[in-house]
Amino acid sequence: MKEKKFNDVIGDFTNIVFKVVIITLSLVVMFIINMNTDLKEFLPTIYEPAKMSTDTDNATEKAVKNNPLWVAPDLSTIADDETRWETEYGKDLIAHTAKYLGPNGTKLKISNGLNCQNCHLEAGTKAWGNNYGSVASTYPKFRARSGSEENIYKRVNDCFERSLNGKPLDTLGREMQAIKKYIEFIGSNVQKGMKAEGSGLKDLPFLNRAVNPNKGAIVYKEKCLSCHQTNGEDVFALDGKEYVYPPLWGKNSYNDGAGLYRITFFAKYVKYNMPLGATHEKPLLSDEEAWDVAAFVNSQSRPHINVTTDWPDISKKPVDHPFGPYIDTFSELQHKFGPWKPIQEQMKSLIAVK
Ligand code: HEC
Ligand code: HEC
Repeated sequence: MKEKKFNDVIGDFTNIVFKVVIITLSLVVMFIINMNTDLKEFLPTIYEPAKMSTDTDNATEKAVKNNPLWVAPDLSTIADDETRWETEYGKDLIAHTAKYLGPNGTKLKISNGLNCQNCHLEAGTKAWGNNYGSVASTYPKFRARSGSEENIYKRVNDCFERSLNGKPLDTLGREMQAIKKYIEFIGSNVQKGMKAEGSGLKDLPFLNRAVNPNKGAIVYKEKCLSCHQTNGEDVFALDGKEYVYPPLWGKNSYNDGAGLYRITFFAKYVKYNMPLGATHEKPLLSDEEAWDVAAFVNSQSRPHINVTTDWPDISKKPVDHPFGPYIDTFSELQHKFGPWKPIQEQMKSLIAVK
C-alpha cells in the first residue's frame, strides 16, 4: 500500500517535470523565432551559399542562387565622416574616372578617357551590370589568368592597364586607397568566400553556331549606332573630360587584353545592359543579337598589348580566349568566334586523360 503511493508520487512528479520541460522548450523555440525576425530587420542582408560557380576563372568561389539579388549598402550610413568622404571619393573615381585620371585628368593622366562606370554600371552597383558585389568577399583569390593570387589592387590595376589601356595606379596613393575603400564598403554585406546572386555578369547560353560579325554589323547599325556613332568613335562631353557615349573600338577603346575583348564577356554585358536602359528583367537584344554584335565589335581595330604570359597553365584558358597556344587542336579563329561546344568537349576529355 505504502509502496503504491510512493510509485504514484514518482509518476506524478515525472509527469510534471515532463510538462515543464516541454513548455520551457516551446517557449525557448518561440523566443528564438521571434528574436530572429526582429534581428533580421536590423542586420544587413547576408547572402547565403548554394551552388558552385561554373566560371573557370573563378572556380574556387561558391555562387549564391535563388536568393534576392545583391543590393549595395548606402554610403550615407557610414558614421565616421572621414571614412565616408574617402568612400565617396572612391565612388566618384569609379563614376568619373576620366575627370581625374583620363587624358585631361586633374590628378594624373594615366588612362584612355573611359570611366570604370562605363562598364561597371551605376558605379558598380547595377544588378548583373558587371557590378562589384562579390569583389570584397572573394579577393584576394587565385586567378588563372595571371596564375597567381591577386588582391583588389592588382585586379583594379588590371582594368587600368587593359580596359582603360593605361598605366597602373600607385597602390599606396590616395586614389587607389579610396577605390579600394569604396569597393570593400559596397561588398560588405556579402559573406566572405561567397558570390552574391546578381553580382558580376549574368550567364548567357552559347549558340549552336559560330557567332557572326556580318550579322552583328546589322545589329550595330540598328541598335547601337545612334549613340556609339558610325565608327564607334568617341563623343566627348562639353567639358572635354568625359565621354557621353564611350568608344567601342579605335585608339581610345579597351585593348585586346581586356575582359570585354572576350566575346562571351561582351555578349553577357550587352545582353542585359545595352542599348542603354536594358536590364536583366527587360533585355532589349535577343541572345543571337548579343552574340553577333559582340563578334562585330571585337572584329574592329583597337590597341594591342602583349598578353602572352596570361594563363600560364594553358589547360585553364577560357574557351573563348582568342590567343593560343591551347591544349586542344582547334584554331585561334574558332576559339574567338566558336562554336565552342566541340572545343569544350575536347578540352574536357584531354583534361580527364591528364
Ligand atoms: C571596357 C570595360 C571596362 C572598364 C572601363 C573597366 N572594367 Fe573592370 N572589368 C571589366 C570586365 C569585362 C571584367 C571581368 C568580369 C568578370 O571577370 O566576370 C572586369 C572586372 C573587374 C573587377 C573584378 C570583378 C570581379 O567580380 O571579380 C574589378 C575589381 C574591376 N573590374 C575594377 C575596375 C575599375 C576600378 C575600373 C576603372 C579603373 C574598371 N574596372 C574599368 C570591364 C571593364
Ligand atoms: C541610347 C544610347 C546607347 C545605345 C543605343 C547603346 N549604347 Fe552602349 N553605352 C551607352 C552609354 C551612355 C554607355 C556608358 C554607360 C555609363 O557610363 O553609364 C555605354 C556603354 C557601352 C559599353 C561599355 C563601354 C565601352 O565603351 O566599351 C559597351 C561595350 C556598349 N555600350 C555596347 C553597346 C552595344 C553593342 C550597343 C548596341 C546593341 C549599344 N551599346 C547601344 C549608350 C548607348
